[in-house]
Amino acid sequence: MTYYLSLGSNLGEREQTINRALACLEELAGVITSRSEFFYSAPWGYNSPNPFCNLCCCVETNLQPLQMLQATQAVERRLGRSHKTADGHYEDRTIDIDLIRAFDGNGQEIRWETETLTLPHPLWQQREFVRVPLQEIITKQHKTIEHMRTRMVAGNWKMNKNLQEGVALATELKEAVKDPKCAVVIGTPFIHLATVAELLKGSPIKVAAENCADHEKGAYTGEVSAEMVKSTGAEYVILGHSERRQYYAESYEMLAEKVRLALANGLKVIFCIGEVKEEREAGKQNEVVKAQLEGSVFGLSAEEWKNIVLAYEPVWAIGTGLTATPEQAQEIHAYIRSLVADKFGKEAAEDTTILYGGSCNEKNAAELFACPDIDGGLIGGAALVADKFLAIIAAR
Ligand code: PGA
Repeated sequence: MTYYLSLGSNLGEREQTINRALACLEELAGVITSRSEFFYSAPWGYNSPNPFCNLCCCVETNLQPLQMLQATQAVERRLGRSHKTADGHYEDRTIDIDLIRAFDGNGQEIRWETETLTLPHPLWQQREFVRVPLQEIITKQHKTIEHMRTRMVAGNWKMNKNLQEGVALATELKEAVKDPKCAVVIGTPFIHLATVAELLKGSPIKVAAENCADHEKGAYTGEVSAEMVKSTGAEYVILGHSERRQYYAESYEMLAEKVRLALANGLKVIFCIGEVKEEREAGKQNEVVKAQLEGSVFGLSAEEWKNIVLAYEPVWAIGTGLTATPEQAQEIHAYIRSLVADKFGKEAAEDTTILYGGSCNEKNAAELFACPDIDGGLIGGAALVADKFLAIIAAR
C-alpha cells in the first residue's frame, strides 16, 4: 500500500514556503525511497492573498501510518515548530510542518486517531489537493534539486563480533537510533543476519550482508546466495569491498554477477570502489574507479541502478588511520558522479548516493560529510563501537 503524506507549510511567502517544503523533503530523504514518489500540491495558487493556503506538499511513501507520523514529527522538531506568519495568525501555533491529511494508495483519506496530532487550522480545510509531480514544480522554480538523494551512514563490521556481541551492539544501536537524519545500515557477518534483522524490526536501522555468492544456488559448499541473504530480512549487501577483491580475488566479472543476483533477489547493493596506494601515487585513481564501475555495474539498466549505492573507499585509507582529505574525497566523488551522469544521465547521478569509506570516524565525519558530493560514510572500525557509530550518524 502506498500512502500520501501531506506536509503542510503555513508560511506566507511563496519562496519561503517552497524552501521550507524542500527542506522538509530533504529531511525526509532518508525514508522516502525515490524522487518519483514525491508529489507537490499547490491548492490555491501562489498568488492567493491568504497566507495559510498557499501550498503544501505531499509525498508518497511506503511507510506505515505510524512510521509516517514519526517521520513527520521528526521533521517538525528539526525544522522548528513555531513560526509567525506575516499577519501573526500563527504566532502561538506550534505546528509548522503539519501532517494534515493522509491518503492511501486508492485516494481514500486515512483518519488518524491519535492525541499527538493537532487538529488542522480551519483554513487548511479550504485546500484542494491537486497532485503534481514534484519534479515539474522544482524544475520550474529551482534550477536544481539539492540534497534529494538518500544520505546514509553504513557500518561494516567485517569479521568482528561473535553473535552475542553483535546482538549486544545492534541492541544498543536500536535503543539510540530512533529518528536518524539519514538512512542507517549495519553490515554484519552472515551468521548474524537473521537474528539482527529480527531484532531491528520496527527500527529505522537496516541490515546488510557483507558479501553474497556469484551463483544462484547449488553445490557451492560454504557459499551464501543472494536469495538466502534476502530471506534473513537483510535489505542490503555490500559488494566489491577491497578486502574481497584483494584477498578473495573477486574479479570485475564475478562482481557483476553478484550484483546482478543481489538485485534480482530484491537486495540493494552498496558497491565499493577505490584505488590502492600505488595507484593514487601514480595519479591513476580516476582510471581505477572508472574501470571498476565499467567492469561490474555500468551494464545495469537505469531501473536497476536505482538500487545501487556507491562507496568510494581508497584502499590506502581503510583501517590505516589515514583518511583522504575532504578535498581529495570530494574531488573523486564529483568525478564518480560525473561518470554516473555520462552513463545514466544527470538526474540519476544527482540521485545516486555516494559514500566515503576509509578511516572515517567520529572526529572527521562531519568535515567529510559537509562536501557536496559525499552523501555519507561506510564505516569499518568506528562502527564496532556504539558511541562512535552514533556520533557519525549524528554528523550526517
Ligand atoms: P575503516 O573501514 O573505517 O575501518 O577504515 C572501512 C571499510 O573498509 O569499509
